[in-house]
Amino acid sequence: MLRLEGADAFHGKAQVLHQVSIEVLAGEIVSLIGRNGAGKTTTLRAMAGLMPLHAGRLLHEGADVTRLPAHRLSRRGIHYVPETRRIFPNLTVEENLRLATFAHRGGAWTMPRIHQLFPRLRERAASPGDSLSGGEQQMLAIARGLLTAPKVLLLDEPTEGLAPRIVDDLVAAIRVVQAEGVAIVLVEQKLKVPMALASRQYLIENGQIVWTGTTDELRRDQRQIEQLIGF
Ligand SMILES: Nc1ncnc2c1ncn2[C@@H]1O[C@H](COP(=O)(O)OP(=O)(O)O)[C@@H](O)[C@H]1O
Ligand SMILES: [Mg+2]
Repeated sequence: MLRLEGADAFHGKAQVLHQVSIEVLAGEIVSLIGRNGAGKTTTLRAMAGLMPLHAGRLLHEGADVTRLPAHRLSRRGIHYVPETRRIFPNLTVEENLRLATFAHRGGAWTMPRIHQLFPRLRERAASPGDSLSGGEQQMLAIARGLLTAPKVLLLDEPTEGLAPRIVDDLVAAIRVVQAEGVAIVLVEQKLKVPMALASRQYLIENGQIVWTGTTDELRRDQRQIEQLIGF
């Protein structure tokens, strides 16, 4: 579905990605795990066409999309949900969602289905964006992505800072989204949520993928791998 191959990327003169390769198959969830500053956000942005590559390429459904502008990748169904969630603080939940429906391309995710997935967003429909809890903001950010009928969702630390019960709700919702056939790249700093959701894992450190394997393989060697990457 989406493959970043041998990517090098820079912030100014500093190289922050070194030969990063990561791929997600149709309907699959993979995780990219690493500490603060490891290069997770830069990798996700590269996968969304938001970060120029100095080497390597980006392939979407087999087509080379390395040089396409981000809005073209968005139209191809690649949707990045940033850690900041970027909701409109002065608009209500309903208005935030309605703005996303302007880009709605048909597809499975209609407003009733969004409300079914996140009942909280219906209850909070009239509340302004800046009154939402962190969990509600994350739900809204994902919901807005779904309204664009994505093929791939790139989720940047969706559970960061959320209460355990809210994390459980989000994990359940992400499973429903996957069951609809959306491929997901999940970025997290810890192993717990990735191990619950993803079939394959990538560990990144200092801008390099230092380990990749299935979730079963990670579970088998978890202690050693945690030491390797200094968790
Ligand atoms: N806009 C930027 N300008 C300069 N350096 C940056 C910028 N964004 C990130 N970096 C640096 O790039 C590296 C990787 O950052 P990032 O991809 O955001 O890591 P992560 O998401 O894993 O925390 C870090 O060393 C960070 O300091
Ligand atoms: Mg980040």
